[in-house]
Parts: sequence; C-alpha cells; structure tokens
Amino acid sequence: MTVFTIAAPPSAPSSITASDFKLPPPTRTQSLSKGPEAVVDKHDNVAMLHRVSRDFRSDTLTIPTDDMFIVMANASRGDDVYEEDATTTAFEAQIAALTGKEAALFVATGTLSNQLAIRTHLHQPPYSIVCDVRSHINTYESGGAAFHSGAHMIPITPSNKHHLTWEDIEPRLVLAEEEVHSAPTRLICLENTLNGTIFPQEEIVRIANEAHHLGIQMHVDGARLWNVAAETDTPIHTLCKPFDTVNMCFSKGLGAPVGSILAGPAKFIRKARHFRKIFGAGQRQTGPLAAAAKLAVETSLPKLKATHELARYAQAELEKLGVRIITPAETGMLFIDTQSVGIHPAELTERAERLSDPLYVRTQRLVMHFQTDPQAVVDLLQLVAQMKQEKLDQGFVATDNPSAIEGPTGNVYIRAAGDKLPRYMFNNTTRNCT
Ligand SMILES: Cc1ncc(COP(=O)(O)O)c(C=O)c1O
Repeated sequence: MTVFTIAAPPSAPSSITASDFKLPPPTRTQSLSKGPEAVVDKHDNVAMLHRVSRDFRSDTLTIPTDDMFIVMANASRGDDVYEEDATTTAFEAQIAALTGKEAALFVATGTLSNQLAIRTHLHQPPYSIVCDVRSHINTYESGGAAFHSGAHMIPITPSNKHHLTWEDIEPRLVLAEEEVHSAPTRLICLENTLNGTIFPQEEIVRIANEAHHLGIQMHVDGARLWNVAAETDTPIHTLCKPFDTVNMCFSKGLGAPVGSILAGPAKFIRKARHFRKIFGAGQRQTGPLAAAAKLAVETSLPKLKATHELARYAQAELEKLGVRIITPAETGMLFIDTQSVGIHPAELTERAERLSDPLYVRTQRLVMHFQTDPQAVVDLLQLVAQMKQEKLDQGFVATDNPSAIEGPTGNVYIRAAGDKLPRYMFNNTTRNCT
C-alpha cells in the first residue's frame, strides 16, 4: 500500500524564475477531453430550443441565448466573495437603482434570495411571518423559513380568491408583544405575480402603509415582478416602493441561466451578504452569470408583453372549446380545467407527449414564455379539440359543475384524492412546480 506523506515545503531555490511556472498560453477555446458527455453537439441545443418552444410547464425552462454566451465570455472574472468582480458589482448597483433601493445582492436562486431576506429581517425569536397560503415562500421552499430562521408562518387564504387585502391580513397579525402564547408578526411577505396574477398596486400600498405603521416589515417575492412591470407599464421602482426588500429572478421568464437578486437598504444587504456566506452560498467568479442576467433583463423584458398576449389568445380559444378557465391569463400563465370537456389533465399530458412533434403540458397550468412557439399553441388547441370530440363520441356530457380538482382559492394545482400535498402529474410521476 502506498502511503502518502506530506513533505515540508521546500524553500524556493534561487535558480527558479517566474517562467518556470508558466502554464501553456491560454487559447480562446480550451478543448475539453472528449468523454462521452464532455461536449454537447450544437445540434442537441437546437433540439433543446425546439423542445422548450413546445413546453408549457414553466418559464424556468427557457434556455440561454447565443448572445448570452457572448457577453459571458466578455465578463470580468473577479472573486465576488471578495467583492472584486466588476461585472457583478456593477450589475448589483444597476438593479439597486432599478428597484429604487440602496443596494442589491446577486444570488444563485429565488429561494435563496427569499430565505436570506427572511433571515435578515428577523432578529430575536419568537416571531411570525404573514403570507398568502399559495405563496412560494409558504408552499415551495421546503419549510425554509422554519429551518433557517425558526419563523412561524401564518398563511392566509385571500377571501376574494385573487390577492390578499388588509382586511384578510389585519385580524391574523400577532401584535401583542407580551402575550407569551403567540409569535409576534415581524414580516409580511407578498408575491407578485402569484400564479401569474397581478397584485393590485393600490392594495399593496395600503397593506404596506398599515404594516409599517405597526412596525412590521414588507418583503415581496417578485420572482416574476418583471411580468407585472411589462403588463402594466409600471416602473419597477414604483412596484418595489412599498416594500423594504425585494426578490426578483432572472432565470424564469427572462431566460438567464442562473440568478436572482435581493434588493433593500444598504445595511440590510450587507447583513444578507454575511448570511449568504453562512448559508455556504457565497459564489466566486460570478461575472459571466451576472452578465447573462443583465442581458436577459435588457433583451427579454421587452418581449414579455407578447407572451402575455399569446397566453390570452390560448385562453380565448380554449374557452371557445368549452374548457373552463380557472385562473385567467393576467400575464403569461393560465390555469385550465380540461375536465369541463371530459379530459383528465394526466390524459392530456400523455397524449401531448405522444404527438409526432411532442408538446409538454403539466397539471392545469399553461405557461407561455419568450421562447414559446405560437405553432405549439395552435397544436395544443388542435389536440384539445380532437380529444374533446373523442369524449363526446364516447358519450361525455358536460355539466356546469366545476370539477373536483378546484381548491379553495380557485387555482390550486391538481391533487390526488385523499392527498394533502400538491401532486404534480407528469408521466405518472410527481414533480415539483416552480
Ligand atoms: C414565485 C417564485 N418565487 C421563488 C421561486 C424560487 O426560485 P428558484 O427556483 O430560483 O429557487 C420560484 C420558482 O419558480 C417562484 O415561482
């Protein structure tokens, strides 16, 4: 058996010069050793783009554009933990200005951005967070607020089935500091868009004014706040103004490969930077990622409104076929109930994938993004029309009853009978939904 010992470092002999350490000159394209999966054929990415153009499951599936790789190649290559990456630092300053906040922090994911915000907002337990029952923070962050911050969640179902109002929130706040049985509310987290719906700005302002008056902080999960800005022609800083902190994502409808941003007061962001390191999420040479995210904002944001129009076109045509719309397309997302024409969502998923040029549909949610091919929408409509006719031929009779899969807020995802957790059906397996 070979035993490795660590030798004492030799003192550098005076004959060694800098040239002895020279690596071969870097070439522009360093070739990787070509293992079976080492290099992806250009053709594979063309095929991937085609697949994405027919995939209605999520806007997170959008793929980076060729132009993104050009700006990535030209980005700075400094260490971001040392705060020495010029591209990242400049991008953070640009987003801070865009959101009207003092500072911003580029992070890997939307979940991280939200969780850092929560961790930084909350100081001395016990404390609670008020949010929409359907929100990502409550439902899809693996209980992160409890895990990272020891926070108690107070999830609320909006009484209007669309967005929370102050009337929904106020009775659920825990304000009594001295009451030992409860966890005082320190933070309200809103989400915009939520399931593609736009939170009315005047209600946000109202909630924020009341909350701030009570000393409660406001955070927005604005993973898709871009869509609100595009749809309503409202500046991002206006949408962000009522909030102390803001999360926005670049890797969803904007199509960047990676990245989200947390914006807020300078002191807050400094602390969040510290927590990011504690979470093990300090990143090193982030310049190329920040460059891609910056280009995504510049080039994809102007395309979002068209994706919303495509979603509304799909909605109108589905309605004509008799498909019930659970949540209309306020932005690029809609929720449909194909059971109103006798088609179970799992059946639609399966038939769509069996087409000669497959389509990808999951649950009741249809998402349009800037890489969606309008032809895919036409093909989907044709498939639904064909399946509807088959059901009619088999004797299906439509009723006015909404199908049993509708939940209390009118736009939950499909649930398997007796299952308390959301189950996302895709190829007969369960998938998460982001
Ligand atoms: C509203 C919302 N917030 C946060 C996230 C989390 O983003 P990430 O997947 O980058 O962690 C998602 C993910 O899709 C989301 O939809």
